[in-house]
Amino acid sequence: MKRIRVKTQSPYDVAVGENILPLIGVELKLLGFGGRALIVTDSGVPAEYVDEVESSLKREGIAVFRFVFSQGEQSKNQTTLFDILSAMADHHLTRGDFAVAVGGGVVGDITGFAAACYMRGIRYVQVPTTMLAAIDSSVGGKTAIDLPQGKNLVGAFHQPGLVWCDVKTLKTLSADNVRCGIGEAVKYGLLAGGSLWHSVKGGSYGSELFFEGTDLEQLIADCVEIKADVVCKDEHEGGLRKILNLGHTVGHAIEKLGGYTIPHGVCVAKGLVKLFRCLGENPALVREVEHAFDNYGIDHTCPYSADELIEAMRMDKKSGGEYISVVTVSEAGKPRIESFSFKELGEILCRA
Ligand SMILES: NC(=O)c1ccc[n+]([C@@H]2O[C@H](COP(=O)([O-])OP(=O)(O)OC[C@H]3O[C@@H](n4cnc5c(N)ncnc54)[C@H](O)[C@@H]3O)[C@@H](O)[C@H]2O)c1
Ligand SMILES: [Zn+2]
Repeated sequence: MKRIRVKTQSPYDVAVGENILPLIGVELKLLGFGGRALIVTDSGVPAEYVDEVESSLKREGIAVFRFVFSQGEQSKNQTTLFDILSAMADHHLTRGDFAVAVGGGVVGDITGFAAACYMRGIRYVQVPTTMLAAIDSSVGGKTAIDLPQGKNLVGAFHQPGLVWCDVKTLKTLSADNVRCGIGEAVKYGLLAGGSLWHSVKGGSYGSELFFEGTDLEQLIADCVEIKADVVCKDEHEGGLRKILNLGHTVGHAIEKLGGYTIPHGVCVAKGLVKLFRCLGENPALVREVEHAFDNYGIDHTCPYSADELIEAMRMDKKSGGEYISVVTVSEAGKPRIESFSFKELGEILCRA
């Protein structure tokens, strides 16, 4: 098992290992968790994983309740949030009790937000079961729900007390979901450079890299380490944390224009390639990135015009006024944040 310490104001561990679900109860007991727990999950997460977590907690004398909502981003809304909060109240959770998110980013985001709100904040634990949740969303304490007007518009920073990632759970994921995680893994590889970039670009979908325990563990641990490092230097996204948006400024615009039908990680891939190609800083690196996505079977072409992308970006919540920042990497391991006016960026995006 690998452990990464996230040194935020209240620090916590991210544990990555194979067949570790049955051990979560003992770990939580050591960390002082007890009393009552509400496990939150969705209908697409195989029940056996939830059963394993539940049994493990019960063995430690914790009273466990379960809340299951319909899978999918469309459930990350106020109705589900209030249903979770009601379940917490119905099961008499108090400030000493906690929630456990077993699932992907949707489950993690909404459970974390419910935990941030309930009684002005109770503790929670992340048990990520998708690639995206394992390498990205379960770490860093960003929690949220969507509004009809946009994604993640209501949320809070609330760090988990533990992240417990069993790579065994990733073996039941659909190909699309694995690809979604790979989009983010390529992002981390580019941010870090070195051996992570080497192993990410050297992999291909279905290869041992992603399905044999040890390598998968290493890949996740390496990505988490980068996120942990950035997050603890900038817990509330004042500046540095923005580098985690690599591929996301254009990616979010593509996601929006596609009516949220293109998986998030695939939009990140498209956004990354589009921006890199247009900026034209390092054509050899662009080819490497494209080649990596090709190997994973990820379509990195961008189906939208520069005008359409700019219009969608203007509505992005992160853009203030006439300027927008994008993250670029002229060499793997050397990211930087650049600010452009929408007009300038529009001209750049016309180039390729
Ligand atoms: N908080 C953050 O920092 C952060 C970062 C990135 C993304 N996100 C959020 O994450 C969400 C996307 O997360 P996601 O890609 O994990 O999607 P998701 O949570 O919707 O999961 C995808 C699907 O996989 C199913 N599933 C989960 N685990 C499974 C397993 N082990 N085997 C088989 N099926 C399984 C789920 O039921 C779901 O239908 C978005 O809402 C996004 O906004 C948050
Ligand atoms: Zn992302």
